[in-house]
Amino acid sequence: MSNLPNIDDLVEPTHDEIARQRFTSVLRKRVLVDFAKDMKSVYENVVEPGFEKRQGRKPKTGNEVRREMLDEPIFQEWSALRHNAQLMSWWTVQPSVERKLPELIQTAKDVAAATPTGGSLRLNPDVHIPKTVTELDVHLMPGCFHEEHAADDVAQGAVLYHGGLVFSGGLAHRSKGGWGATASRALRIKFPDFKPKTYLDIGCSIGRQLFAVMDVFPYAEAHAIDVGAPMLRYGHARAEALGKKVHFAQMNAETLDYPDNHFDLVTSSFFFHEISVKSSKKILKEVYRVLKPGGLMINQELPPASIVPNPYDDFVYDWDAYYNNEPFYYAFRHQDLTKLFVDAGFAKHKYLQFKAPNYSTWPDELFEACVRGEAVPPEVSNGQAWFSFGAWK
Ligand SMILES: C[S@@+](CC[C@H](N)C(=O)[O-])C[C@H]1O[C@@H](n2cnc3c(N)ncnc32)[C@H](O)[C@@H]1O
Repeated sequence: MSNLPNIDDLVEPTHDEIARQRFTSVLRKRVLVDFAKDMKSVYENVVEPGFEKRQGRKPKTGNEVRREMLDEPIFQEWSALRHNAQLMSWWTVQPSVERKLPELIQTAKDVAAATPTGGSLRLNPDVHIPKTVTELDVHLMPGCFHEEHAADDVAQGAVLYHGGLVFSGGLAHRSKGGWGATASRALRIKFPDFKPKTYLDIGCSIGRQLFAVMDVFPYAEAHAIDVGAPMLRYGHARAEALGKKVHFAQMNAETLDYPDNHFDLVTSSFFFHEISVKSSKKILKEVYRVLKPGGLMINQELPPASIVPNPYDDFVYDWDAYYNNEPFYYAFRHQDLTKLFVDAGFAKHKYLQFKAPNYSTWPDELFEACVRGEAVPPEVSNGQAWFSFGAWK
């Protein structure tokens, strides 16, 4: 920890703004947990039997379920509420971020000048920001990850941080721990000899998962890249206040400027579903190049269709592709992940994937038993567990 102000703490919502944010968190929980149960019940008791009667079989794919559900009023209501609760996660924090923007920007600049940990921030105004970021507001966040309305702007980073709290506020198991804490502890259990000295997080945005990984591998020299300058400025400011030494750089993951065989560990989270399969291929080739032999790339994502236990869950997982401005979600979930890595140069037998319970909300013994394959982890939905995939070089 340092004496610098934590940029996360500067925004001060009013009483009414807090009320709106809490309403949104509770609405999201109602939609994603309670209302989702009602919708599933309609599917199981009405929609699926109707399909079976007509077709002489049950639906086999998420797409078949989707076609049946599109005209169901309960799906339309669930979907509309979920869409609006997602928008409201950002809208309810924007006014308080805007009010404090000059102070937020100044704090980020002060921190960048001081950098007590020795971390750094390298911005590149000529970076190629892909259309997958510039042409749509990904997950409905107005301004996406890159827009700047003032010199040295950090607003989008602040909106992502505070909106993220609203987004997960009603879902306690999502707000604690998260994938970074879960996957890094799972790696420590599975591969106790793996002690990365150099670490890169790609698509880091404001560093949420990266910092959790660093807690488990504190001796690793940490680097993090993103195309969005407001993300990096904000991430750097919070890293320094939290005492996390990170070298942030504005870079497109398709063209990394690090030397060959440089990193022991490369991670990404909530990343691959937001980019095209074509771009994933380029990025994985770059990651293969910068990884040391014996190094590991590990990523978090929603589980691919191939491991989801039934077509109904598959249909629910694909929702974001249609209604959340994440058009690549579907292609991501329905591709062969092993092949993706093999095509980038990784050996087939070096591919790995696992599901682990969210670290901070499940007892240590259960967490460890699941990681060791001695118990079955909970389903991934609503952050109860996390799906990780990657490969050793
Ligand atoms: C959903 S966010 C990732 C969040 C972050 N990893 C976390 O877990 O909190 C995806 C990030 O990837 C970045 N991004 C998208 N395409 C990129 C690319 N080609 N190279 C580098 N960053 C990219 C976006 O700017 C955005 O910040």
